Amino acid sequence: MPALGEETVPPDEAAMIARLVEQNLALLNVDERPVRRGQHPKHHGCVRAEFIVEPDLPAEFRHGLFASPRRYDALIRFSNGESRDDRRADAHGMAIKLFDVPGEKLLGEGTTHDFILLDHPIFFIRNVEDYVGLFDALLAARRSILPKLAFFLPRLIAEIGHVYVTYLRKKPHELDILLDTVGKKPKTPLQEYWSTTPYLLGPQVVRWSARPAMPLPTLPQMTKSPDLLRHALAAQLDAGEVSFDFMAQVQSDAEKMPIEDPTIRWDEKLSPPRKVATLRLPKQRPDGVPLMEFCEHLSFNPWRCLPEHRPLGGINRARKDIYDKVSRKRHELNGVPVGEPSLEEFLRLHEVGRV
Ligand code: HEM
Repeated sequence: MPALGEETVPPDEAAMIARLVEQNLALLNVDERPVRRGQHPKHHGCVRAEFIVEPDLPAEFRHGLFASPRRYDALIRFSNGESRDDRRADAHGMAIKLFDVPGEKLLGEGTTHDFILLDHPIFFIRNVEDYVGLFDALLAARRSILPKLAFFLPRLIAEIGHVYVTYLRKKPHELDILLDTVGKKPKTPLQEYWSTTPYLLGPQVVRWSARPAMPLPTLPQMTKSPDLLRHALAAQLDAGEVSFDFMAQVQSDAEKMPIEDPTIRWDEKLSPPRKVATLRLPKQRPDGVPLMEFCEHLSFNPWRCLPEHRPLGGINRARKDIYDKVSRKRHELNGVPVGEPSLEEFLRLHEVGRV
């Protein structure tokens, strides 16, 4: 039984991760321009934000970003997991980038720091080995069944059907989570998100989450547009400021709150999430053309972080190389340099959007 915070690395994991890199590269649709992300391809806005560390955190939380009360400028990319049409059920992402964070990061040399969250508290794959199996099934689905079914069924459903027959039928726990994860039809991107995987917070291990903190501005009467999440976000941020509570749930039981299995929910009764920061989204227009293009060419990576917040567990170990290599390939195909943005550049585009 591993201790609190202890990772267990299978001996053949590195080879499996190398295989996952290849599989993820194969998911890029190289025929379109720009080449979009293989996962989370569509975003709803490129949002300006502030990340304000809570004052008076207990000593065990005061590490890394949370060492002392301060504010960081930030941006947020809200995305769909797969679909280009917001009317379809899907998973959704909230990728947060903090600017001007001093100190060496575990990836790259810049001063940015990333958090990547999903609108479901758990992930549908336990470990790297299972991910390889799932991807084999997914790529086989794309090769074989799509040309025949794509006219009749939404792409995702056709793929899931095929992957079910070939793989997920044997994994009912994961299948339940997958269906819950991709079955969501939120009316706005301003909803609750979770990291699903664990991270260090100094000497302790946590899962991150973010939840809207105040009653949100009323949603306008929405048309049934394929871009309805973008319209909802723009309307709500035009109506006024919004804020999220950024939370950390501490691992307090090594067995019931495992490091190596993100399919297990960490019980909030065992360890209630604690607010560690406020994410403030001021009134703004987040979806002008230059801003949307700017977010298109960003890269997020859970390893772009301070060592005090190191990602833990097999799924996170895999993501370091996968996100990095896939993003580099995407940028190369688009003829765009890879690199971290500066705050000045981002704020300038927001000023342009204001005119
Ligand atoms: C081994 C497991 C995983 C693999 C292989 C994977 C793969 C990827 C890839 C290839 C991208 C696009 C990277 C780019 O082109 O810049 C991506 C983006 C993303 N992933 Fe994952 N992912 C995994 C696990 C997770 C988990 C556990 C979460 C939960 C938070 C997650 C949430 C996201 C989100 C929100 C984005 C969009 C980031 C953005 O806005 O650019 N992924 N993923």
